[in-house]
Amino acid sequence: MATLVVVGSQWGDEGKGKIVDILTEDAGLVARYQGGHNAGHTVVIGDSEFVLHLIPSGILHPKKRCIIGNGVVIDPAALIEEVGGIEKRNIDLNGRFHISQNAHLIMPYHLALEKGSESALGDGKIGTTCRGIGPAYTDKMARLGLRVADLLHPEFFDQKLRANLQHYNTVIRALYQQEPLRAEPILEAFARYTERMRPWIADTSLLVDEAMTRGENILCEGAQGTLLDIDHGTYPFVTSSSATAGGACTGLGFGPGRVDHVLGVVKAYTTRVGSGPFPSEVHGELDEKFRSIGKEFGASTGRARRCGWFDAVVVRYAVRLNGLKSAALTKLDVLDTFDPIPICTGYRYRGKLLSAFPTDLSVLEACKPVYEEAPGWKTSTIGLTDFDALPQEAQDYVRRLEDLIQTPFSLISTGPARAQTIRVSDPYR
Ligand code: IMP
Repeated sequence: MATLVVVGSQWGDEGKGKIVDILTEDAGLVARYQGGHNAGHTVVIGDSEFVLHLIPSGILHPKKRCIIGNGVVIDPAALIEEVGGIEKRNIDLNGRFHISQNAHLIMPYHLALEKGSESALGDGKIGTTCRGIGPAYTDKMARLGLRVADLLHPEFFDQKLRANLQHYNTVIRALYQQEPLRAEPILEAFARYTERMRPWIADTSLLVDEAMTRGENILCEGAQGTLLDIDHGTYPFVTSSSATAGGACTGLGFGPGRVDHVLGVVKAYTTRVGSGPFPSEVHGELDEKFRSIGKEFGASTGRARRCGWFDAVVVRYAVRLNGLKSAALTKLDVLDTFDPIPICTGYRYRGKLLSAFPTDLSVLEACKPVYEEAPGWKTSTIGLTDFDALPQEAQDYVRRLEDLIQTPFSLISTGPARAQTIRVSDPYR
């Protein structure tokens, strides 16, 4: 048995959905450990495309157990809608889907606060998904949050909600000139949500421990990516949770000694959504080309992603922060028509060459990428399943990336479908 943590190694949208879906085949339990419905995981199975936001993509495998851990923030309406969408496709969740009683709830005032604060920031806005994620985590840390378990105690829930509303309605009115929110409709809606969610609520840390004791493979699914981590990302242009591998322990409730393998998902080029520095970003026609071939539009918000070349400085940073043992390279086929293919190997900052990622935003903003050029292969690699079948230039590109990040690729994805994958080694072994 092994416990595997899967993390995004860039700014999110690396293609974790497909990789988690493949790795679920050999897992007993799949558990999501941070973030909320700001994430969007697209999984293609046969002719169907599934977009999941909160629920681990493992749910699409009949019989696998899935958990939403305490580190996740849950908008009940979004969760219930997502479950409904899955059930509509005749996938049964009964008895195999659990949410942590300690997970925090995203409340209607979180949405109002975020909309207000993002518009007040004007040009300096973070470019968040406006799903209430940041304000929900703020309340968690301020010890003002409502948790899933509180739904089961209506009197306490009522009191706490009214106290929070009193506080936040003042902010919403005074700072953002918005209408205050009323308690009654919120209480009514949450009473309905509670009835739907009741069978899913559990002590999920205990469930993870029991699965480990039974000797099952455990797959811990991270959302977003390393550079969006609240501590280690490009702060303040980050999300509000611990997207790095350490978040799996706190976000699910087990000790670090139980992690056997951390796998980083790495896109063959780079993208980011929202504001913030992005040294290897391209503009104009190239940006458009990446976006149209790679379908680089946000799965949650539909926003166009910013695109750029592979940045080895970013991924080396992810290797260090997460302790990656191996990586999964995704979307290699998107590069099929590019020639040459620049790779960012370092940054130039005030005449100095930096090989380590600078975490001081003002330094990062002044960095210029240093590129080496790889020749393109100008032929289709879509759907190839054997490394030796890749054109020589594609093999050399992959090997060069491994060399630059000092980490082997255990999986290489050559298309969106499950079968379109080169399986180099088994991360559970
Ligand atoms: P928030 O997570 O909605 O607070 O947004 C904070 C930043 O994280 C923004 O730049 C978002 O675009 C980005 N972000 C949040 N979730 C994702 C994701 O799943 N993929 C990529 N970027 C994300």
